[in-house]
Amino acid sequence: MGVTIAEDRVVLSTSTSSAVIYFTGATITSWVKAGREMIFLSNTAVLDGTKAIRGGIPLVFPHFGAKEGSKLPQHGFARLSSLKSLWPYDFKLIYTVTLTEDSLKSSLASHNTGSASFSFTSLFHSYFVVENISNARVKGLNGIKYNEIIRNKTDFPETSDLVGITEELDRRYFNVPSDAIAIVENGETVVSIKTKNFADVVVWNPWIEKSAGMSDFEEGGYKRMLCVEVGQIGTPVTLEPGENFVQEQILQ
Ligand code: BG6
Repeated sequence: MGVTIAEDRVVLSTSTSSAVIYFTGATITSWVKAGREMIFLSNTAVLDGTKAIRGGIPLVFPHFGAKEGSKLPQHGFARLSSLKSLWPYDFKLIYTVTLTEDSLKSSLASHNTGSASFSFTSLFHSYFVVENISNARVKGLNGIKYNEIIRNKTDFPETSDLVGITEELDRRYFNVPSDAIAIVENGETVVSIKTKNFADVVVWNPWIEKSAGMSDFEEGGYKRMLCVEVGQIGTPVTLEPGENFVQEQILQ
């Protein structure tokens, strides 16, 4: 794996693949495999560190979503590391990205370096490129219970082998097997997702109205992206002083 370091990013490469990781939030913004871009990055994303990057694989830590009573913004501070002083714990996060010709592995090691225990939730907020959202499906969720944020459903069992997206969707699936998930399009696997220590999966597409309301979401971009986000969001992880915990995603 070749590694090139530029002012604002790191570029990894093999003979048939490449990946780009911005220093802003250690966000992976590109993964090209056999000439095909796999990761969606909004063409209006802000890349200068003043805002979380819209697209790529932002890191969500130490909490997913909005947290009541916390000074931290939605999805925590890791995707904008400048905010980390708002979390009152001593910790270290080590993020390791490994590129091979046909896979991209990211691994997040969380260490409690202080004297107080803390709990966190975490997630890799992956935005994948699809050719046409109307043809894209998420495989591997049948029978898994989910909460649907938009329609206020809780504990709904998924009944579809292939989950399609035809409107705004924001679902949290809990206790998903670690090697079950894939995005398929026109019957072909676009990407398969394997995990370690991430029990849950969020499926999100903002669709027309919501994406139009986000200044950094490219016009019409919802048609060519799908977020399938692996995370540990249902049951937080607790780390005692000195403990560490490793979570992993392998995209293939
Ligand atoms: C998803 C959430 O993970 O992230 C959605 O399930 C949220 O509810 C989306 O809208 C985008 O969040 P943000 O903070 O990047 O706009």
